[in-house]
Amino acid sequence: MTTEEAAVKAPRTSLHGQWSSRMAFVLAVTGSAVGLGNIWKFPYIAGQNGGGAFVIVYLFCVFLIGMPVMMSEILIGRRGRRNPVATMALLGEEEGSSKHWRLVGSMSVIGGILILSYYSVIAGWTVAYVEKSVTGSFVGRSPAEIASIFGTFTGNWVSVAVAHTIFMAINILVVARGVERGLEQAVKFMVPALLVLMLVLLGYAINSGHFAEGLAFMLTPNFDALTWDSVLVAMGQAFFTLSIGMGAVMAYGAYLPAETSITNASAAVVVADTMIALLAGLVIFPLVFANDLNPADGPGLVFVTLPLAFGQMSGGVVFATLFFVLLTFAAWTSAIGLMEPAVAWVVERFHRSRAQAALMIGGLIWALGFGTVLSFNVLAETRFFKGTIFDNIDHLTSNIMLPLGGVFITVFASWVMCRNSSAEELGGAGTVYSIWRFLARYLAPLAIIFVFLKAVGLLPEFSGA
Ligand code: PHE
Repeated sequence: MTTEEAAVKAPRTSLHGQWSSRMAFVLAVTGSAVGLGNIWKFPYIAGQNGGGAFVIVYLFCVFLIGMPVMMSEILIGRRGRRNPVATMALLGEEEGSSKHWRLVGSMSVIGGILILSYYSVIAGWTVAYVEKSVTGSFVGRSPAEIASIFGTFTGNWVSVAVAHTIFMAINILVVARGVERGLEQAVKFMVPALLVLMLVLLGYAINSGHFAEGLAFMLTPNFDALTWDSVLVAMGQAFFTLSIGMGAVMAYGAYLPAETSITNASAAVVVADTMIALLAGLVIFPLVFANDLNPADGPGLVFVTLPLAFGQMSGGVVFATLFFVLLTFAAWTSAIGLMEPAVAWVVERFHRSRAQAALMIGGLIWALGFGTVLSFNVLAETRFFKGTIFDNIDHLTSNIMLPLGGVFITVFASWVMCRNSSAEELGGAGTVYSIWRFLARYLAPLAIIFVFLKAVGLLPEFSGA
């Protein structure tokens, strides 16, 4: 046996440590999944894509495509126990295919960097909104006034840049501290607290007098209004919200103890994430209709509807502050997941300390973030291809890179890896395994490719569609 072969055969451990318990892993993946994607992005893109039918396609994508992709990604991560680039290269060779599978890992490192470059800017908005909440800026304001607070803030690139810088700085600090000390602590109270606060808001939305209208908008499907482009957006959102397709979950899987059930952990994460997104919709759409706002208004939707509600309810200052603090935390635990593949890669590949790697990668992301900072002010009118710089990064990552990553990940786990390897990771070849294997081998990759081709118009129309 060569030393390289011996290294492959030895029981693998990760250089970066391990989660202290099964619960810690579920919390960390949930923390990565639950974020701006659920509360900021889901409502506005559901609004832009007509509501009901979009939500149904989204749910279909989450459960039938997202869940098998997530399981594939975690099982690959745990088997390789390295950063996504090295894991894909290692397993590619070990399973008798090719080490070029590492390109899938490289795509994830790049994807994480690109996503975080805009994610951090929006997270910066939430940081700024904490300050606005504490100082009572929303109390008793009209819808027009609240909209102008948002417009004035995002219109000033300096304040947006400052908030983005603050957010990136706290991020780098946590990632530099490492897996257990950094990541676990942050998530433990954030998800439950966020859930409680969403329920308080739900109570308010139910009393807004427009709950039925909001509910109908979200749940009544009108498939005539659904384009293939919206189907692609729904699919992209399923990937984005579950943090899959770009190696975040793979990197986390590398720190997962061998005895934890990947299926149960994935199911818990998918259900929690979906509940929070639906809850966000149920809170926001009634408020949209109660205040005569437009559900298709775009990225500002949450930053206008919720402050309006807070401004009118008793105890609103406290609730608003709590809410934006929690949303900042939720974004933070997601941002950590976005940085992890790149940071783990730099640590392993260039033998840097975590602190150095976090600083290098964080600095790069911070600089790239200016593309998005300027997309809402100085360069707001500069449009190319899909719109502003922000629109293009968002489209490229969520709607192209993540689903494509998902195709490679499921194909790798279910076609390239031998049955024994995947069955071993998924706890034996029972019914659940067979269902996973079917979804991962056929449904997920084919559905993703089909939607892609449809969205770019490369497949013929069916009659009546
Ligand atoms: N899932 C996160 C959210 O919904 C975003 C994210 C995407 C985090 C990909 C990590 C990896 O906010």
